Amino acid sequence: MLRPLGPGDVEALVAYRGRQDVSRYVPFEPMTRELIAERLAGPWVRTELTGEGQALTVGVELTGTGQLVGDVTLFWHSELHRGGEIGYVFNPEFAGRGYATEAATAVLGIGFEVLKLHRIVARLDERNEASAGVARRLGMRLEARLVRNEFFKGEWTTELDFAILAEEWADDR
Ligand SMILES: CC(C)(COP(=O)(O)OP(=O)(O)OC[C@H]1O[C@@H](n2cnc3c(N)ncnc32)[C@H](O)[C@@H]1OP(=O)(O)O)[C@@H](O)C(=O)NCCC(=O)NCCS
Repeated sequence: MLRPLGPGDVEALVAYRGRQDVSRYVPFEPMTRELIAERLAGPWVRTELTGEGQALTVGVELTGTGQLVGDVTLFWHSELHRGGEIGYVFNPEFAGRGYATEAATAVLGIGFEVLKLHRIVARLDERNEASAGVARRLGMRLEARLVRNEFFKGEWTTELDFAILAEEWADDR
């Protein structure tokens, strides 16, 4: 189930966003309780997107147990181009069961069917095979490989850009 994040999620979020292995290929360092509490009181409070430049982060809960197992973020980059981006972070304790793919599929649905986006991208570190696996299962196409494109956490890293269009999404349904 997708749901808004709230102050009661600090411990569950620290359990994965506080881990070194989880933050290896993403643009944040292992997050502290304090930083997560700050985010929960700020950007992660948002429950709707009202204009470009905003991001919506939703929690992913197992309906059987109520456990928060991850979160998915939808960025609205451009109103003119109707462009967005998706990102996902999950607790490794719950990896390998398709939860990230299922949740990200639902968030693409919000992007295309609610926000009426035209194109949604996923940008990732080439070494992040698990993330590329999610993008492929989402039906996204690998469009670009940007060689040593970003100086990221002390080294030059190669970026893979995946994308899916609204019509491709609709055809897949
Ligand atoms: C990226 C990330 C979310 C992927 O997690 P994941 O567990 O591999 O992805 P899913 O939850 O979709 O599970 C997919 C796996 O479950 C398997 N699976 C089992 N049941 C499934 C089902 N019903 N549907 C889809 N896949 C299923 C798939 O075969 C796949 O296994 P494989 O890795 O052996 O091929 C996770 O590695 C992560 O959070 N990493 C840290 C943060 C990060 O790097 N985020 C991406 C930034 S770009």
